[in-house]
Amino acid sequence: MSRYPGLFITLEGGEGAGKSTAAKGLADALRAEGHEVLATREPGGTPGAEAIRALLLGTDTPLHPMAQTMLHFAARADHVETVLRPALERGAIVICDRYYDSTMAYQGYAQGVGVEQVASLIRLVDLTPDLSFFLRVPGDVAKARLTSRAGASDRYERMGEDFTARLMQGFEAIQAQEPERCLWVDSSGAPEAVVATLRRLIAERAGR
Ligand code: TMP
Repeated sequence: MSRYPGLFITLEGGEGAGKSTAAKGLADALRAEGHEVLATREPGGTPGAEAIRALLLGTDTPLHPMAQTMLHFAARADHVETVLRPALERGAIVICDRYYDSTMAYQGYAQGVGVEQVASLIRLVDLTPDLSFFLRVPGDVAKARLTSRAGASDRYERMGEDFTARLMQGFEAIQAQEPERCLWVDSSGAPEAVVATLRRLIAERAGR
């Protein structure tokens, strides 16, 4: 399935879907089995991309949605070429907390940048995940998780309910377009149960 000896897995979802906890648990489980695992995130994963993340998420600096889109892809280009591709070439399992499906859902759909515009940038980076898990929980569970989180919310967490509805429609559309790669996973259960589901799906779909 992959063009590389490694395996590229991404985790996606709305805010409060438990992605980061699941990513960490999955990485630990695969490492315990003896796999080389690279756990990383977007925007971020390199010093340059983390600096772009700080601009995108850590500030209120106004940025046109198209500019946000291109910054997400600038961060991604650095991450792909200096970290992700080399890791996949040496045979690692890469687990990435968000990737380009987030740009399609957040910028392409929810912020109205447009599907074709984002698709053209996706073609440019030219690195497709082998498997993408779209984590989802009922809306009230997500809301409760977000309110219990410490710290200030970022640019996207403050967008409101219409934005969240467009975002979820975006993820639905992406999944419907690529049902082999993109799998919905209910993440409302205990973290260990979510990790066990992901582990089983990787074995079934990617034979690892
Ligand atoms: P997270 O680390 O909590 O997932 O935060 C990343 C935020 O950035 C989240 O609100 C989703 C948003 N985002 C985009 O809008 N576009 C993207 O391409 C990526 C990777 C993230």
